[in-house]
Amino acid sequence: MMDMKSIIKLGIVVVLLFGLQKCFTNDPRELNVEFIPEMVHSVAYDAFAENPNYPNGQTLQMPVKGTVARGFLPEYSDGELTEELAGNMLKSPIENSDKHIARGEWVYRNYCQVCHGMTGLGDGPVTKRGVPPPPSLLLDKVKNMKDGQLYFIISNGKGNMASYRSQVQREDRWKVIQYLRTMGN
Ligand code: HEC
Repeated sequence: MMDMKSIIKLGIVVVLLFGLQKCFTNDPRELNVEFIPEMVHSVAYDAFAENPNYPNGQTLQMPVKGTVARGFLPEYSDGELTEELAGNMLKSPIENSDKHIARGEWVYRNYCQVCHGMTGLGDGPVTKRGVPPPPSLLLDKVKNMKDGQLYFIISNGKGNMASYRSQVQREDRWKVIQYLRTMGN
């Protein structure tokens, strides 16, 4: 026969086991028992939680118009700037050096030469395959263009020439301009 003490002990074990089983439910819709949940749920609204304080009911709001992400300077678009304005406004942030000219030459050969040709005469390989040839880059017209104007053309394209802002980084655009200045000399 079990004595009273053993029955109580057994009772405690059985209750604990049932309690433990309650903690681990397989039903995905049911919360498991949370132990000391004070720090699990933040008082503040979570980023993706619904939020009655905003008109669109979301916690995460869109950035204010005109916001500039850190490290990402906006590009001037066609509408904001003209070639002429760009020529007067934009100055190269990069000093002239042989190293930068060499980098500019690399950029030119990879991105510009197909149309403008190795020497800038406008006789690149694609012009022999039906693409209308661009004007020579050695003309006075181009030589007289200010750096900012060239930067604008490379960034926004011109006529049949597409914008190169997504392929050629800002600094490389200024460097290819340094290289253009050496062409034909
Ligand atoms: C797909 C062919 C093509 C490529 C690639 C190309 N261009 Fe052009 N580029 C043109 C054409 C065509 C024009 C003439 C646009 C117009 O005036 O209608 C032009 C015009 C220019 C002008 C102005 C010339 C002028 O007389 O007004 C410059 C400067 C220039 N390109 C530089 C570059 C540079 C630098 C690159 C490389 C980053 C480049 N281009 C890549 C086709 C190209």
